[in-house]
Amino acid sequence: MNSSRMQKESQRKTLDDIGRDWDRNVQARALELSTNSDAAYRSLCNHILKHLKEHAPVGSSVLDAGCGLGFLTKQIHDLKYNVVGVDVSHGSIRFAVDNFKGIDFEANSIEDYAVANSSKFHAVVANMVLHNTPDLGATLKAISKLLQPGGVLIGTIPHPAFYLYNRADLTAEQLGDYSEEHEVELPFRIRGGEPHPGLVSYYHRGLASYNKQLRRARLIDIAVDEPSRVGPGNPHDVLILVAHESDSD
Ligand SMILES: C[S@@+](CC[C@H](N)C(=O)[O-])C[C@H]1O[C@@H](n2cnc3c(N)ncnc32)[C@H](O)[C@@H]1O
Repeated sequence: MNSSRMQKESQRKTLDDIGRDWDRNVQARALELSTNSDAAYRSLCNHILKHLKEHAPVGSSVLDAGCGLGFLTKQIHDLKYNVVGVDVSHGSIRFAVDNFKGIDFEANSIEDYAVANSSKFHAVVANMVLHNTPDLGATLKAISKLLQPGGVLIGTIPHPAFYLYNRADLTAEQLGDYSEEHEVELPFRIRGGEPHPGLVSYYHRGLASYNKQLRRARLIDIAVDEPSRVGPGNPHDVLILVAHESDSD
């Protein structure tokens, strides 16, 4: 399946499938990140860290939800936050554990991790994760549960109004209709880089859908940041969503 409308729940990829997609790309991604070849990633991390410093005091607890290989987790750790990294890709977490000693990493989904870690975090960072999770509502509810009352989510996504349309390699069917949720399986590739060996899923959801699902998960006071250019990417490739756990019942 290269592209399809959003499938019925029973046909949707599981989180284990998502983890296996990324397991196939660990080597390629590790090479890009350890040689500092992904300028957009560096620039995006700086935006995230700026938001984190604004909203969470140094020393507070931070979850890097969907931490991948742990490169951003390491930066958060170096800023003296008490950070944990969680990802459903076992291969990515193995890399993180082997390369970033002294940081807590766990191979788990955000959803399952939330079951035993309620209200534990002052901040949750989800860098390029929310468009990759098959059930956004469930992921956001788990994030809300993980946050202390009033805690902050800092999430980045490819900008839904521009990302797919800036890619030259997609068919009209893959582009789909902006207002319709749909899944596109794509090779992960950074600008100017080689495609990674494994396809990964991009779940297109319009901005209104993110807004609705954040509120449903009791994540409120939503602020949207549209950095005009992240690294050498196209303008408006990325959107940053900042939202707060509602501390009222
Ligand atoms: C584009 S990668 C980003 C990785 C990382 N945040 C970074 O900054 O390099 C998306 C990651 O999200 C993870 N992911 C997606 N949905 C998840 C979920 N519900 N629970 C845990 N991990 C998830 C994938 O396994 C993948 O490693």
